[in-house]
Amino acid sequence: MKKYISVLLTLVMAMSLVACTGGSKKADLVMATNAEFQPYEFRDADNNIVGIDVEICQAIADELGRNLVIEDMAFDSIITSVYTGKADLGAAGMTITEDRLQSIDFSIPYATATQVIIVPNDSEIASPDDLVGKKIGVQLGTTGDIYSEDIEDAEIERYNKGYEAVQALIQGKIDAVIIDNEPAKVYVGKNPELKIVDEAFTNEEYAIAISKNNPELLAEVNAAITKLKESGKLDEIVNKYIAADN
Ligand code: ARG
Repeated sequence: MKKYISVLLTLVMAMSLVACTGGSKKADLVMATNAEFQPYEFRDADNNIVGIDVEICQAIADELGRNLVIEDMAFDSIITSVYTGKADLGAAGMTITEDRLQSIDFSIPYATATQVIIVPNDSEIASPDDLVGKKIGVQLGTTGDIYSEDIEDAEIERYNKGYEAVQALIQGKIDAVIIDNEPAKVYVGKNPELKIVDEAFTNEEYAIAISKNNPELLAEVNAAITKLKESGKLDEIVNKYIAADN
């Protein structure tokens, strides 16, 4: 009899375990971003966060059967957020760098980009070599910030938002802004007194940041990105936000 009861108990326990795991919803997929980076992530007229990265992460979440939750934060908080496990994905037009790879992993790249130099139309700065000794505006913690430190005698002004650096440039407080090419095109498009210097400052690749403690998610995200590339869905998303002629 005793044996019978214990078998029964084990059976009941096993069944409730199945009910718990099988029946419960999958955890949210939390994306950390900085929605100051059109066309990759920005707020639309209704204050919703939209953009290329948002749609890529939504497609990944759909693929994994998880609900996407977006957390908007300062750009330089994103890696910490992924590192500490507060966010699952860091998706913010984030460039793969050796330094960042020390603390987090990156997915396979989903886009290529450059850092470009924005100057007023009448500027004498015509190539990266002309930046020596200049006052340069960047967004805090970005590759523009990191790489401009190598420019001889340059004075680096760091802003929380790329937009603030561009405002300072328009006001004549700085000589140039170093920022990613696509947001640069958006800023110059809105401010005809500015132009982009032809020669780019760096070449980079964007990828999604994922904790080193989560190799399963990394593999799932890589598989999802590969699928998005192969199906043409990634191009479709990019073309929705970036005009084909630029
Ligand atoms: N690609 C640059 C970097 O990784 C800038 C990215 C800025 N992204 C943003 N959402 N503000 O450092």
